[in-house]
Amino acid sequence: MIAACREGVSLLGIGSHVPDRVMTNSEIATMVDTSDEWIAQRTGIRERRIAAPSESSASLGAAAARLAIESAAIDPAELDLIVAATASPDYYFPATASLIGERIGADNVAGYDLSAACTGFIYALAQGYSQIASGLAETVLVVGTEVFSRLLDWDDRSTCILFGDGAGAVVLRRDQAGRGLRGFELGADGRGASLLSVAAAGHSETEPEGPYVQMNGPEVYKFATRVVVESSERCLEAANLTVADVDVFVPHQANRRIIDHAARRLGLDEDRVFANVDRYGNTSAGSIPICLDEVWRAGRIDAGDIVLMVGFGGGLAWGSCVMEWTKERAR
Ligand code: ACO
Repeated sequence: MIAACREGVSLLGIGSHVPDRVMTNSEIATMVDTSDEWIAQRTGIRERRIAAPSESSASLGAAAARLAIESAAIDPAELDLIVAATASPDYYFPATASLIGERIGADNVAGYDLSAACTGFIYALAQGYSQIASGLAETVLVVGTEVFSRLLDWDDRSTCILFGDGAGAVVLRRDQAGRGLRGFELGADGRGASLLSVAAAGHSETEPEGPYVQMNGPEVYKFATRVVVESSERCLEAANLTVADVDVFVPHQANRRIIDHAARRLGLDEDRVFANVDRYGNTSAGSIPICLDEVWRAGRIDAGDIVLMVGFGGGLAWGSCVMEWTKERAR
């Protein structure tokens, strides 16, 4: 799917939340045969956040959503729809979106979950845009929230070093001036499904003590480096923009090497490329909105800036979104 956005839908608010508990590379090195140097060199990750037993995708997502609603200066009752992108929901059902709605006081608001792993937030943004553009909704809360720490085999050094927990959220609303989201490019190739997966409970692949993240790291790495560049270029072209127009590039935070490679290939200089993978690891659907929120709160984005986001991961799925930022610079 590839399209320019014809209707004005802009980002009204943004927020994020991560657990307090920090787990450093050195701590992981006490559990499996690895080292801070190996992890930092291969991935750029130094530490990640780990959810407490009392925390979940719903609670982290609700905390991020409250901040997004506060920054949008709206009442939760004004929401028409909540879309929660998560691959680590509290339940198969009820949807995490319903649990978030209940926690933030958005009763009688439609909500559903969306499963597209690390591409989930971009897919959910496209959902939010579509529901508003079609006239079905006016105001949509889009949440990306994960507790991957519960899907990891903590004896598997090839996966347990990579992921962390956290959530980000945005409020989208119709923009009468026609500003905001400019274009999307979304895709998935199920031929690569087995390269990155978490089996459902009861599925034949589920280990007795699982289910856990299974990944072919080198193959996913090759896919990611190719698709981040190609999807970004296709998305910009659809929106009639070029790399020169991009002020802020926020890619999915999986691996610093993938981010640097994409930036080089796209011709984006360092000061337009944003990363926090060193502090949070890969928070899957949470990664793009967490990074975007930090960049905005640091005063690095201003109204009128062009923001390019790109996600990739299990599916194998990918997605890019380019938008005009409409919020004032944070002080
Ligand atoms: N510490 C020390 N050594 C390790 C570790 C570790 N944590 N993990 C693997 N190794 C070893 C391997 O056993 C192997 O040893 P060998 O050569 O003796 O067999 C060696 O290091 C090389 O292993 P590779 O897997 O080839 O290492 P690679 O350089 O590919 O790095 C990594 C691994 C970091 C996982 C990389 O492949 C990667 O980043 N892949 C992409 C991951 C990604 O982006 N995932 C997206 C997920 S998105 C979603 O939807 C969930």
